[in-house]
Amino acid sequence: PALGVVLVAAGKGERLGAQTPKAFVELSGSTLIEHCVRAICALPHSGHLVVVVPDSHAAQALSIVEGVSHLTDGWEISVIPGGRERHESVRFGLSALSDHIEIALIHDAARPLTPTDQFERVGAEVHRTGKPVIPALAVVDTVKRVGADGAVHETVDRSSLVSVQTPQGFPRELISAAHETLRDASNEADAPTDDAEVVQRAGATVLTVPGDPLAHKLTTPADLRLLEALLRVRSE
Ligand code: C5P
Repeated sequence: PALGVVLVAAGKGERLGAQTPKAFVELSGSTLIEHCVRAICALPHSGHLVVVVPDSHAAQALSIVEGVSHLTDGWEISVIPGGRERHESVRFGLSALSDHIEIALIHDAARPLTPTDQFERVGAEVHRTGKPVIPALAVVDTVKRVGADGAVHETVDRSSLVSVQTPQGFPRELISAAHETLRDASNEADAPTDDAEVVQRAGATVLTVPGDPLAHKLTTPADLRLLEALLRVRSE
């Protein structure tokens, strides 16, 4: 089945406190977008990659993609402007996918070291089951629910808890329709924080596959140091 990947990179990344939008921050000399494009275009079968960026950074994104063109053979790559909220950027990305795309993977540029095999694992499971699939890791810390004042209310049973990553994979029509429904129902106070939630609200069952610690999300300056260390370990 034809594979499409939407790489959302249109956020400001305010918690990182950098001068540029987060996806354009460099990690060991390459932008997060470049790390992601390299990982995606190393998949065994090519497809359509849509990179969603801030309007102000479209030219820079194009030149990043151009710079790795020797690695993106066979891929159709589009760069488009994003929206104010993540789910808007995703919706724009999905509607930019070629008509023939049957499986859509949605990935955050903020997870620059996500290995190619995680994209493969998610895509293969969507293909096998016809269902939405997300990568998940067991929660290892003890988890507690706290009040607004920071006081502990209770310990939460972590045995059934996972933390989830991207790429999240979907039958293309299912995720496109679910995002259109979300737009019509739009209530920003109750915005979903991932795409699996968008299809769940539409009644779909979402499956999981194992995630990977390398898919760690860059949010704060400390994450940048952690990812740099992970990158060193990976290339040793
Ligand atoms: O802000 P956060 O790190 O949770 O964003 C997750 C991903 O969504 C990032 O890769 C970011 O670039 C993207 N995003 C987007 N458009 C927005 C907000 C976030 O593409 N309006």
